[in-house]
Amino acid sequence: MTGPAPDLAGKRVLIVLTGGIACYKVPEVIRRLKERGAFVRALMTEAATRFVTPLTVGAVSSDRVYTELWSRDEEAEVGHIRLARDGDLVLVAPATAHTLAKMAHGLADDLASTVLLATRAPILAAPAMNPAMWQHPATQANLRTLRDRGVTIIGPASGAMAEPETGPGRMVEPADLVTAVTDRLVPRPGPLTGRTAIVTSGPTHEPIDPVRFIANRSSGKQGHAIAEALARAGASVTLVTGPVILPDPPGVACLHVETAEQMCAAVEAALPADIAVCAAAVADWRVANAGTSKIKKVSGDLPILELTENPDILAGLGRHPTARPTLLVGFAAETDRVIEHAQAKRLKKRCDWILANDVSPETGTFGGEHNRVHLITADGVESWPQISKSAVASRLVAAIQAVFTA
Ligand code: CTP
Repeated sequence: MTGPAPDLAGKRVLIVLTGGIACYKVPEVIRRLKERGAFVRALMTEAATRFVTPLTVGAVSSDRVYTELWSRDEEAEVGHIRLARDGDLVLVAPATAHTLAKMAHGLADDLASTVLLATRAPILAAPAMNPAMWQHPATQANLRTLRDRGVTIIGPASGAMAEPETGPGRMVEPADLVTAVTDRLVPRPGPLTGRTAIVTSGPTHEPIDPVRFIANRSSGKQGHAIAEALARAGASVTLVTGPVILPDPPGVACLHVETAEQMCAAVEAALPADIAVCAAAVADWRVANAGTSKIKKVSGDLPILELTENPDILAGLGRHPTARPTLLVGFAAETDRVIEHAQAKRLKKRCDWILANDVSPETGTFGGEHNRVHLITADGVESWPQISKSAVASRLVAAIQAVFTA
């Protein structure tokens, strides 16, 4: 008999067990993930250890089980920040109502919650609780918060519970959890398989001194959605992102930068690429005379910030002497004469397409969930209706696919 395909080889999964009866199903999840080649590390809350012993979990996982924030041994060996960083995906299973509430509010008072707050990996959570707790408005509000931040909630299933009660609240079965993890970690072949893409996203922070900076209101939602959609279509994607509060999109190599100059260097290092989408709101200027130590406030003596121009990443790609991407897409955030300005920008920056959007404050585009864009190409203008940022991403990726599969 042959086992399942080793499609998770090289992937590192961190499973966080919290205190619910469904803990007894987790060794089965770990076993199945390992069968597919994943390296699986487990971390348990104190309550979880009352349902299943660390000995049992450790016997099936790839490493010792981590349980304590304050353990000198555990901190010396790996440390909670490395535990948080050293994984491609975090699966919280079972996720109790209490853990979801802590995650939603950013509490960090034990190893599990600290790791969940510190991780940049995508988080999947499989809730397990009594139906009344699941349906409580507090739990539902916490779930909305978590979903908005990009946490994927798997289940719960409905049916008989450990208590004599039925309803939604049962953790989904191990096989379903393994499928959810695999779907997130393994890029399926798609129309852009074999193609490489670079996406810039988010704002940049330009220092004034070590504690102050100039920034803008970009959330990164649009750029991140495009990176995720390109990866879903099979492309090998590098996302260069400024400071955002979004999780790294699944299946995407993420480079975190702060300044425009760092973003420019990271993009250059990621070349060559078939596709580049510049969705970042790069600061046009940086402070030339930024302080190396904190500028002190002296009454009546106002500091004068001298600005200097930042590199234009999009324009640099447009006229790149050796590695111009085959398809170069820029954004134009405008507040008036949107199409006209965007058409001029397309020519000036030598890109193939521009997605122009109206960012007048009344549209709520910056930081919002929706976008209304016009796709400007050499052939003309296509105006899309107001749709979600992820729908804009899917539509853009469909247009990109059409170019590469024509
Ligand atoms: N862009 C970039 N590097 C910069 C500035 C902008 O890559 N230093 C990219 C953005 O990611 C976006 C496009 O250029 O794709 C348009 O940015 P925008 O700020 O609208 O263009 P500007 O040249 O700054 O024009 P404006 O005069 O409207 O500010």
